[in-house]
Amino acid sequence: MSDRMPVYLDCDTGVDDSVALAYLLASPAIELVGVGTVSGNTTAAQGARNTLDLLALAGHSHIPVAVGAHDHIDHPYDGGAPHVHGENGIGGVEVPRAATEPDPRGAAQLLLDLSHEYAGNLRVVTIGPMTNLAHALEADPALPSRVAAVVTMGGAALAAGNITPVAEANVYNDPQGAAALLAADWDVTLVPLDVTMEHVLTEEQRGMLLASERPFVRAIGEILDHYFDFYLPTYGERSSALHDPLAAVIAASGVTPTVAPRVPVTVDTSWGPGRGQTIVDLRGQRLGARDHEGVRTRVVLQVDAPVAHHLVSTILAG
Ligand code: BDR
Ligand code: CA
Repeated sequence: MSDRMPVYLDCDTGVDDSVALAYLLASPAIELVGVGTVSGNTTAAQGARNTLDLLALAGHSHIPVAVGAHDHIDHPYDGGAPHVHGENGIGGVEVPRAATEPDPRGAAQLLLDLSHEYAGNLRVVTIGPMTNLAHALEADPALPSRVAAVVTMGGAALAAGNITPVAEANVYNDPQGAAALLAADWDVTLVPLDVTMEHVLTEEQRGMLLASERPFVRAIGEILDHYFDFYLPTYGERSSALHDPLAAVIAASGVTPTVAPRVPVTVDTSWGPGRGQTIVDLRGQRLGARDHEGVRTRVVLQVDAPVAHHLVSTILAG
């Protein structure tokens, strides 16, 4: 048996999801054993197609990809974010269509099956709305007892939201899903906008991906092109935030967060102006990070390591 960490990835592929996927495939610490998709940046079905095509281009067609929830817990899918991720979710780039088709089990069932196969070792990485996780937890509340750790890109602690003043996209798209994931009894590392907006990929680093001899790595560089346009007004230059890639890097222990206290997090599931807000209890943290006893969710507030450099060098070496 491999000593690499088995990872189930739940995603809405997605430009930055594609970069995270490339990193997880390349990381020597990780064995990607399954992928489930959910509607978010694009539909769950399109996200699965994008994932299958990228995996085939990377030479990893054997990894099962299951379509998950199209609609969210308390509302239907709302059309995604084509202005951010392009009409097809991957910046309008046409990746050759793979011969592989989605695993018929569906994402929640795939996750449950993998949690038995890799009981006690499976890592779950979520980089989309958490709808599939809520379904899996509802179907089998014992799921957390078989999962070693969860790393989740989502939320905003002290930073502004990116959909509303207080809500980040993955949580806003399914507040009930996020609430279910955070209420379960497992170790969760929440990777919010506070840190994902602070680490960026530069045009020079995208150029390194474009210069690769491997078509898969070049495709990742091309997929980022549209996303770099979107972030131009935010950063004042063509570059991109590293939302999903940072979660992947932390899951693989590629970098260690500098500040990440275990603190209570609740999600606003109302239909009011706070909908989708992650309310992070940071009271009493002035003199340094202080864990709350019995709390299993840690919130990443600071990462000092050079994330983009590690990300690109790992993908290029993969
Ligand atoms: C998150 O929302 C999606 O658009 C990205 O893929 C990322 O998972 C950032 O808020
Ligand atoms: Ca995503």
